[in-house]
Amino acid sequence: MPAKKNPANSICKFQAALKQRLTAEKYRHSLRTAEWAKEIAAFCNYDSDAAYLAGLLHDCAKTSDADYLLEQAARRRIRLTKKYRKNPLLLHSPLGAALAREEFGVSDPKILNAIHYHTLGRARMGRLEKIIYVADYSEPGRRSPAAQEIRRLLRKTGDLNQAVKIKRETNAKIFGKAA
Ligand SMILES: [Fe+2]
Ligand SMILES: [Fe+2]
Repeated sequence: MPAKKNPANSICKFQAALKQRLTAEKYRHSLRTAEWAKEIAAFCNYDSDAAYLAGLLHDCAKTSDADYLLEQAARRRIRLTKKYRKNPLLLHSPLGAALAREEFGVSDPKILNAIHYHTLGRARMGRLEKIIYVADYSEPGRRSPAAQEIRRLLRKTGDLNQAVKIKRETNAKIFGKAA
């Protein structure tokens, strides 16, 4: 469903379902990402409800069970790229988009794409994709120097593209180029 049509009680239901599904740590990370995504959206004049929802659900398929992710991805014919084969835990991103649609009833493609690409990004990301890509990486629980730099940058200038660039550079070191 489009985020604008989501009443507050849908958010409460989503939070309750996520709490069951995720570890306590990942659930708290999801709440912080949602709140931070909402703040970033305000810096860039973007729909803050959509940003909150995408941030809340971005890790809905997060698990440390690689076999589960591979099996669920195969069932949905999610293409196993080289990066996914090398690090199957990354599959929680595309699989999360599938679960958001199937189990949470989200149909807004902007939200689904923001979930799908929140870890590796892609070329020509839309604004919500960029917001979630950086919000996940720089929510207030993240302590890395790059995360702190992004928080400072966004609060001071709201420069989303520069924030994306900082995360891309860090990702390239971890996962290889074009991430
Ligand atoms: Fe994630
Ligand atoms: Fe995350």
